[in-house]
Amino acid sequence: MGPFSPQGSLLISSDQRKPTTTDAGIPVASQKHSLTVGPDGPIVLHDHYLIEQMANFNRERIAERQPHAKGSGAFGHFEVTQDLSQYTKAAVFQPGTKTDTLIRFSTVAGERGSPDTWRDPRGFALKFYTSQGNYDMVGNNTPVFFIRDPLKFQHFIRSQKRRADNGLRDHDMQ
Ligand code: HEM
Repeated sequence: MGPFSPQGSLLISSDQRKPTTTDAGIPVASQKHSLTVGPDGPIVLHDHYLIEQMANFNRERIAERQPHAKGSGAFGHFEVTQDLSQYTKAAVFQPGTKTDTLIRFSTVAGERGSPDTWRDPRGFALKFYTSQGNYDMVGNNTPVFFIRDPLKFQHFIRSQKRRADNGLRDHDMQ
């Protein structure tokens, strides 16, 4: 069956305004029923809307980042209220300059959805949208960062996170 009902009118979705379409913009015959061979027949592989739905469904989860998975942010601005021009020529730090910013506060080891109450360092990430390009800065609330060699970082973070095989944290690994 094509995108038209037996009466010849275009089948439309439940909001009665726009037809449901494939990713290519082709109106679909139905968003509720797969294409079958007759009323009770088998579902057919050439129902490309069904195949597209399953393909999108299988890929819709975006893997969460490893450290700092949980966070929340806010937009704001950074305004220079003193004269720092003897230290820097960067436009963002010139007197009176006001720059849009985005700040994100995060935990480190906790996964997305983990409680804020878990014992964990805190991170902040600040993005300045400067006239000379974006300028990013990160901070942690650890007074001294505990790793000098970045090769150790992956091992360390992995030891703090849930095991892939059982979904649990592991005190031995930590
Ligand atoms: C061994 C050195 C380090 C390594 C290998 C490392 C690695 C990483 C990685 C892989 C991410 C996740 C990025 C993403 O998925 O988008 C991250 C995020 C972050 N790191 Fe580090 N990091 C290191 C040191 C530091 C230090 C010294 C600080 C602060 C003083 C810091 C603060 C942060 C913050 C705040 C984030 C979250 C950024 C955001 O909210 O977008 N990291 N780091």
